[in-house]
Order: sequence, then C-alpha cells, then structure tokens
Amino acid sequence: MKNLNGKKILLIICGGIAAYKSLEIIRLLKKNGSNVKTILTNNAKNFVTPLSVASLSQEKVYTELFNSENESEMDHISLSRWADLILIAPATANTISKINFGLSDDLASTVVFASDKKIFIAPAMNVRMWENRSNKENLKKLVDFGYEIIGPEVGDMACGEFGMGKMSEPATIVNHINNYFKRLENNKKFKALVTAGPTHEYLDPVRFITNKSSGKQGYEIARSLIENGFDTTLISGPTNLIPVKGVNLIKIKSADEMLKVTLSNLPTDVAIFSAAVADFKVKDKKNEKIKKNKFSELNLEKNTDILGYISNHNSLRPKLVVGFAAETTSLKNNSLKKLSEKNCDWIIANDVSRDDIGFESDFNQVSIFYKNNSEENLPRMKKSSLANEIVNRIISQLN
Ligand code: PMT
Repeated sequence: MKNLNGKKILLIICGGIAAYKSLEIIRLLKKNGSNVKTILTNNAKNFVTPLSVASLSQEKVYTELFNSENESEMDHISLSRWADLILIAPATANTISKINFGLSDDLASTVVFASDKKIFIAPAMNVRMWENRSNKENLKKLVDFGYEIIGPEVGDMACGEFGMGKMSEPATIVNHINNYFKRLENNKKFKALVTAGPTHEYLDPVRFITNKSSGKQGYEIARSLIENGFDTTLISGPTNLIPVKGVNLIKIKSADEMLKVTLSNLPTDVAIFSAAVADFKVKDKKNEKIKKNKFSELNLEKNTDILGYISNHNSLRPKLVVGFAAETTSLKNNSLKKLSEKNCDWIIANDVSRDDIGFESDFNQVSIFYKNNSEENLPRMKKSSLANEIVNRIISQLN
C-alpha cells in the first residue's frame, strides 16, 4: 500500500467495543509509512487505553479540548491543520449525530467542525441503532457534506445480535484510504475546466441581461474535481459563492469575457460547461444610462456559443466535453439535439421549470445523455452529491 507512505493521518477513536480494532488500524498505517496522531473521546478511554494507543502510534494521544498547561496550543486547530486526512474509526451513532448537527463539545467533534480536510467515517454500532431512522438521516447528510463512509458490515456483534453495524475490518479501512490517495495521485495529471454561474450583458452602465443561475452546481463540480486531485480552473460569472479552496477561480462578467478566458485556459483533459451563458447581448452598449423612451431602440445580437465553439475546433477540444441543457419542455429531444449540434460527448439535462431543482436550488435532478446511450431520471439529490456522481463518471471515462 505504497500510497500511504509519508501521509499524515489523524485517527479519532470513539467509545465502542470496535475501538480495540483501531489499534490494528494504527499498526497497519504505521507499517505502511504513515504518521498517525490520535484523539480518544472520553468514552473511547473505556475501551482502549491512551498508553496502548501512544505506544503503537509513537505519538502523544490527544483527549482534551482545553489544555491548562499550554492554553495557546489550540489542538483542535493544529491537529486539523497537520492532517492530510481524518479517519473516525469506530464512529459511534452519537459522534455521527454530533457531527451532523455541528456540535463541538469535545476535542473530537471540535476538530471535525474546524477541519476542511477529507474525512472518512467507519461506523460501528448495534444493528437496531444502525437501522434507526435518525442514524440513516444523519449519515445521508454527512455524505451530502462530502464525508466518505466506509462500511459497516454484516456480522456477529459484541451484544450477541447479528446484522449490519459491525465495523469494517482494519485492513479494509486502511486499503480504502490507500485507494483514496492513489486516486488523488492518478488524477493529478488531469487538467479540468468548469464554467459556472450567469453572465451579465450590460445595456448601459447600470442595467444588464442575465438569468437566475447561482453558480452552485458548477462550484460543486469544481469542488469535487479538486477533492479528487484534478488541476481545476473554474471560470465563473457573478455569484455570491465562496471560492473553493485549491481551485484556480477566474471571475468574469460577460459571455465575451467567459469565451476569452476559457480559450486562454485550454488545453485541458476535460471541460464541463455548467454556466448559464446569456444567449444575447446588446449590439451597441451605451456609455450613459438609457432614457426610458429609448429602450425600443436597443438591438440584440447573439453571443458566441462557448461550448459549441470549443467542441467544434479540434485544436482546442478537450478529450472530454460535458455540456448542460437547461430545458422547460421536451427535455430528452432538446438535449439530444444539443448533444449533436454542440458536438459534445455528454449532455447533463435538467428541467429548469421546477423550483425544487435546477436554478438556485441546493438540489438537482438530471438525465445524462451520452453519444450512444443515456442514464435517464437520476434521483433528485444535493448538487454536491450530483457533482460527485458526475466526477466519478469523468474519472472512469478518462482512465
Ligand atoms: O447555477 P445554479 O443555480 O446552480 O443552476 C444550475 C444550472 C441550472 C445553471 C445548470 O444545472 C445548467 O443547466 N447549466 C446550463 C444552463 C444553460 O445555459 O443551458 P443551455 O441549455 O442554454 O445551454 C446549453 C449548453 O451550452 C450549456 O452547457 C451552456 O453552458 C452552453 N452555452 C450556452 C450558450 C452560450 N453562449 N455558450 C455556452 O457555452
């Protein structure tokens, strides 16, 4: 498992009988060259001792949120900064619930709350607790937030019952983490470009033509690409969104600027055109505010179709070109028409007549049309989850 060599793993051990297996996780990670620091929750100390954890990890074990000896230490910040990755194993139903609700009343939950690192969760609990609806809801939310869940598995439990809830074996967990680093390493060689948000086509200094795009879908795709190791450039129209860490963000206003910046950021391996580019601009933009009685004199002209232009120029064309289609009627027919007219490899189609998906919403529901087949009516999901779905398909295609 050579991808673990030199990696800094922060292991959070919660209070469940599976905590004894965490000692084996530490041993395997160390054997494969990782540096391991650990946090024990208060309850974890009932199952494994700080001394055994410290002996195996060869590091100090962290247990307290506040440090009276050195109050400037702030372990919850320094540990999260130190880590390449955080693994919670075993993750109890209580800790899963705390993380979902953003509670931070001990060192473990506060570190997670303060972290922007990739977090893996290996749940372990009794089968009834696993099947409890609040546990299911909590985990669903954590997946939407971008946490990765490993296991659990079906098996005999310490409480005498049999069923789902047994923590995955240490080797499985460590292998999963190794595969994650391997994926990052493999994808490092790929360059990706994403367009997102609306464009503003100014009529005069204060008025413009635009649409309802918030940029959320495109920003989530850029986030998922960077989290998967891609060298990612995001070309964004005006939005109120926070930049995604690690992504090369270029902000533009008009379709002409988006075209220019897109061209200057090619070649890439993949380009995803999720921006809602205004189809028209005014022919003669005025330098002064237009008087009310002069609006009828405005003439519109078509903006260049950025996606169409790039996919129809062989020298510019990325290996994989993914377009979107925002439709209100005949979604399939219109999308297939766009797939062929704009010469892209995939079209991701959404129905923008609905309020619960598409423009502005945190959710989306799409159909994906490929050149020779399709995946129609994927379930409605958070834009973050859809972004992960799209990026997983991109990774399979590029590899
Ligand atoms: O931004 P959000 O609020 O999260 O909403 C997401 C979204 C609804 C904007 C997104 O999911 C979406 O559908 N994006 C495409 C919007 C659009 O303009 O679709 P279209 O069917 O008009 O265009 C088809 C394709 O051509 C798109 O990939 C578009 O980016 C591209 N295009 C269109 C016109 C143009 N001048 N240049 C282009 O590149």
